[in-house]
Amino acid sequence: MALLQLANCRPAAECDAMTAASRNNRPDIADLLAFYASAGVDEALEEAPVNRFAEMAPKPPERVPETAAPVGETPAPRSPAQPPRPDMSRLPDAPPARAPSASATVPDEAQAALARQLAATAANLDELRQHMAAFDGCNLKFTAKNLVFADGNPNAAVMLVGEAPGRDEDIEGLPFVGRSGRLLDRMLAAIGLDRTSVYIANVIPWRPPGNRTPTPHETEICRPFIERQIELVNPKVLVNLGGPSAKTLLNTTEGILRLRGNWRVHTTASGVAIPAMPTLHPAYLLRTPAHKKLAWRDFLEVKAKLRALG
Ligand code: URA
Repeated sequence: MALLQLANCRPAAECDAMTAASRNNRPDIADLLAFYASAGVDEALEEAPVNRFAEMAPKPPERVPETAAPVGETPAPRSPAQPPRPDMSRLPDAPPARAPSASATVPDEAQAALARQLAATAANLDELRQHMAAFDGCNLKFTAKNLVFADGNPNAAVMLVGEAPGRDEDIEGLPFVGRSGRLLDRMLAAIGLDRTSVYIANVIPWRPPGNRTPTPHETEICRPFIERQIELVNPKVLVNLGGPSAKTLLNTTEGILRLRGNWRVHTTASGVAIPAMPTLHPAYLLRTPAHKKLAWRDFLEVKAKLRALG
């Protein structure tokens, strides 16, 4: 509010008065933290502040060795000595300039290739979990507290796959344990299922900072792991919770509102075709309760399919 008034005020005197008033009303640190929390910024990425100016400061030019000018040539005038650059890393209270963190990884095709190789060599779910825990190729791992591998019964007939863990899932290391997880539990109960009769995982097993949308690179790097997880669980039916899961695992660019409610097929690397039902994500349903009836229909389809498959 105070910012809006400042932006719109015209006469200088009025402006000054408002500036002074707004200074008196300046939000304190608690307001700032509350603002960050409501914007989803609830993690500090580093333990200590980083002096980015020091990292960006250009290096001083390299000294050119002085060589004698060939006979008959006048030596080229030397450029005046460069004034010494202020050493930004020595500013009071500045932490020492650091090399880029060894744990920061740029996602690239090599990492996706490594993920494919690791996933393919996992003979069972335990090995897959170990390979994923040891994999350093996805940036998200370094801001997440835990690997969120799976919950539920690995022998279940139904496997549900969401997008990525949120804050609660990151803390507990289990998928769908927050608000949307509680809604998911109620949706499952409505068709006679619970976490002992389903297996739950995510396309991305590490929480993106601030719950941001995973980048396409991050999704491509993590894709081999979830594909192998599906292959190893080998469910009778796959349920894609939300658009990102459906798009990633059903190889489509269609929106979830078009996809939902229609059976698709997820084909594993070894060629097994698994019937897949794309449906609305529980987090979306919490925001759009009027669409719960659509998800209810999709879950009834799942129930009918399970009955038909025996
Ligand atoms: N949303 C997801 O997609 N997955 C979770 O585990 C939690 C929320």
